[in-house]
Amino acid sequence: MTKTADTPRQWNHPDMEPTLNGTGFMFRVLDEFADDFIQFAGHTEGEVLDIGCAFGIATIAALEAGGRVTAVDLDPRHLAAVVEKTPEALRDRLTCVAGELPGLDLPEAAYDAILCSRVLHFLDGSAIDASVRKMFRWLKPGGRLYLVADTPYGIWRKLIPIFDARRAHGDRWPGLMIGLENYLPFAPQDRAIDGPPFMNLLDPELLTRICTDAGLTVERATFIDRSDFRGIGRMDGRENAGVRAVKPG
Ligand SMILES: C[S@@+](CC[C@H](N)C(=O)[O-])C[C@H]1O[C@@H](n2cnc3c(N)ncnc32)[C@H](O)[C@@H]1O
Repeated sequence: MTKTADTPRQWNHPDMEPTLNGTGFMFRVLDEFADDFIQFAGHTEGEVLDIGCAFGIATIAALEAGGRVTAVDLDPRHLAAVVEKTPEALRDRLTCVAGELPGLDLPEAAYDAILCSRVLHFLDGSAIDASVRKMFRWLKPGGRLYLVADTPYGIWRKLIPIFDARRAHGDRWPGLMIGLENYLPFAPQDRAIDGPPFMNLLDPELLTRICTDAGLTVERATFIDRSDFRGIGRMDGRENAGVRAVKPG
């Protein structure tokens, strides 16, 4: 997705950089979970992992903080942009890996922290669970996992009644929208979307269950207020959800 004269008004926000593969946007304004990851990356001796790094907003900040970072994305064009944007003096602490969750393979017990921001909502339920189980294995004992995902309370807010009804019926993945064309009445601006074939919207409760089922201990789970993106639609302070969890040991 690239910005053109026809790009919908709400996606022309100066802090939203469109991905090259229709997986939404990279936000240039970091949230509390990315900030925590970056600060931790700067203090720990070991390697940290940024999965779904896009153009490297968190990766480059973590390198600038003094960290050693492995940046992962399914799109090699995004990784090429990360390398290009990384100051030369920091490049020896940057490793790039092209790969796609949940098939991605990385060394076990190799990372002090993992950030996976606004990626999991592009996966179905079993792929989310399989991906987070892998993240558990990639972390060192005591390592930290930071997950951030889109919720039904931001641009998809017309889905809220369905999300609530599905949850009340015990649906394991109440935010799963397969075939976005079936959900156009719930899409932002009620119009066609150039984007992924489905979304799996999450919230702090779902992120907590995903981490706990994978064997992690959840330290913090909360909504993230993205009303800093004023002008892209109605916001209520629950636009994203985040979790920080730790691998026991
Ligand atoms: C919405 S952007 C998020 C960028 C950034 N992490 C942020 O929070 O703003 C999603 C990024 O994840 C990548 N991505 C999407 N699905 C992925 C998958 N299954 N495995 C690895 N990367 C994926 C996309 O190529 C894109 O760069």
